[in-house]
Amino acid sequence: MTALEALLREQISTAPSGLLPFATVMELALYHPHHGYYGPGPRRLGRSGDFYTSVSTGSLFGKLLAMLARREWEKLGQPANFALIEQGAHDGQLAEDILTALDIPDARYLLLEPNPRYREAQRQRLGDRVTWIESLAEAPAHAFYLCNELPDAFPVHLVRWDGQNWLELHVDAALNLVPAPPSSPELAAEIEKLPRDLDPGHTMEISLAMLTWVQQLASAPFRGSFFIADYGLDAEEFLARPAGTLRRYRQHQTDDHILADLGESDLTTSINFTRLITEAESHGLRVLDYDHQGRFLTRLAAPWLATLEGHRLDAATLRQFQSLTHPAIMGRSFRCLLMGKETH
Ligand SMILES: C[S@@+](CC[C@H](N)C(=O)[O-])C[C@H]1O[C@@H](n2cnc3c(N)ncnc32)[C@H](O)[C@@H]1O
Repeated sequence: MTALEALLREQISTAPSGLLPFATVMELALYHPHHGYYGPGPRRLGRSGDFYTSVSTGSLFGKLLAMLARREWEKLGQPANFALIEQGAHDGQLAEDILTALDIPDARYLLLEPNPRYREAQRQRLGDRVTWIESLAEAPAHAFYLCNELPDAFPVHLVRWDGQNWLELHVDAALNLVPAPPSSPELAAEIEKLPRDLDPGHTMEISLAMLTWVQQLASAPFRGSFFIADYGLDAEEFLARPAGTLRRYRQHQTDDHILADLGESDLTTSINFTRLITEAESHGLRVLDYDHQGRFLTRLAAPWLATLEGHRLDAATLRQFQSLTHPAIMGRSFRCLLMGKETH
């Protein structure tokens, strides 16, 4: 039994209902400061970690995002007081890759990082090339926000259709899933939006945390744009998965044993980009581009590739480009969303 499982069994057995919503269990499994998967400090990603991200394939992803930031800065009229803001910067690798390639005079690089242990790891890698902020309210008048694989790491509620009602999955003290009525009015309101013509047993995730986060992005007090890269699906693709998309990663293996090795495996879901975009638009953000990562990055790289004029990419860069863009690797399952904000 993991340390977190022992703690959860104790906590659940003393809860008045003898149950905890799955979302609460997932939050503790990922973010408990001592026993959560992400709590104690940035884990290794890439070959020696549990999974790869676009960042762990090499520095090309950062170089391409530096080009995107420059393009967005130019669209704003090259303002002097400009910042890049990264959320979910982990060990600072993407920030380092972007800063190495960045060509925007006097641009600041701000990190939105709540965990002090991550701040320390970021400080060790990046020193005074970055500054930490507590919220987007501290951003300057013009900014470019970015995150890679952030909302897929937010805790989700699990709901299941029983043929007549959508019920929320809770966890009992034996660490089994148990259906029960929704634990909050916010969840009940989201459930109202779900279809009911599904087979009994259909299970899906609802990310209230993602909706709150999108609202925070939309109310950020700067002009500029927001870049979000993550694995995800559109709503119809989401509904075509009767077992949902929640999965566990450990040492490059993935499975659906979501209550096994709690705190020692990563738990993650695919983003429902349709829901993310609807929420963003209802709060005043505008979609500037949304596509599979392969197509998005290929378009973004086109002006740079044209400047190479017949010179080939070196083998390592070419390999990274293929990993990021090939449909069978990261090009199709990952999506890139760029949204804009005109006012404030
Ligand atoms: C899957 S990892 C991705 C790490 C990195 N961005 C990359 O692409 O390699 C998810 C990261 O999001 C961070 N995270 C989760 N919720 C966060 C939040 N509210 N604010 C900042 N970081 C958060 C986690 O600590 C973790 O470092």
